[in-house]
Amino acid sequence: MKKTQRLDKILVHLGYGTRSEIKKLVRAGSIHVNGKTAGDSGMQVNPLMDEIRVRDETVYFREFIYIMLNKPQGVVSATEDLRDSTVIDLLDERYAAFNAFPVGRLDKDTEGLLLLTNDGKLAHMLLSPRRHVPKTYYAKVLGKVTDREAASFRQGVVLDDGYETMPAELRILSVQGGEQESFVSEIELTIAEGKFHQVKRMFQAVGMQVVFLKRISMGGLLLDDRLSPGEYRELTETEINMLKEWENGKRIEIQDDRP
Ligand code: URA
Repeated sequence: MKKTQRLDKILVHLGYGTRSEIKKLVRAGSIHVNGKTAGDSGMQVNPLMDEIRVRDETVYFREFIYIMLNKPQGVVSATEDLRDSTVIDLLDERYAAFNAFPVGRLDKDTEGLLLLTNDGKLAHMLLSPRRHVPKTYYAKVLGKVTDREAASFRQGVVLDDGYETMPAELRILSVQGGEQESFVSEIELTIAEGKFHQVKRMFQAVGMQVVFLKRISMGGLLLDDRLSPGEYRELTETEINMLKEWENGKRIEIQDDRP
């Protein structure tokens, strides 16, 4: 990041208004830099060193944003798409200047936790296959999920392309259905990798079909249950620091039963 930047650029970036609105605020004497009334909206300031006040409110500069989105179905995990709406389109305009991107992907028909950030280092770390950052999904599955599937997933199953999955932890929440009906099971599955369509393909490998999928946690970050699909909020300081701990070689405990 450059040390000094235009005052208006910083304030637009932080959501204080458009460039012309900032100009008006400057003309009205509503912006102060280090205690002096700003005379030019294009003046150079150092956002980390200079004290900027807008209408007597101190401006807290931040370089990075971290947003927890409850991704709804029907939008794609991308920054741009020619056909579909993207998760970035869901964000308020005041976040536009941060150039956030989704950390990893959820399928178009998958809901749930998606982290949006412009912190490339954190994103890279969370997605690194070497870190084995755990992701937990809630799913509805057509079929009767039993301890047999739990044991298979713990051992690793072979996907349609021949890849053998790492140990994953399956929790069976409920199984509904009778003799005549087909069974529907509700489960939670924690995986420590992120192959394409992994959860759906793992169930496919044991002859079952996922009919609803929602991510509920990633790297210890839990989806805030106050967020409806399509809603989002910024992460708290504690949540950000917790995710950054993955940098220090944090590990998860999925029992490895592989020979
Ligand atoms: N596994 C899937 O099959 N789909 C997702 O969106 C995420 C994990």
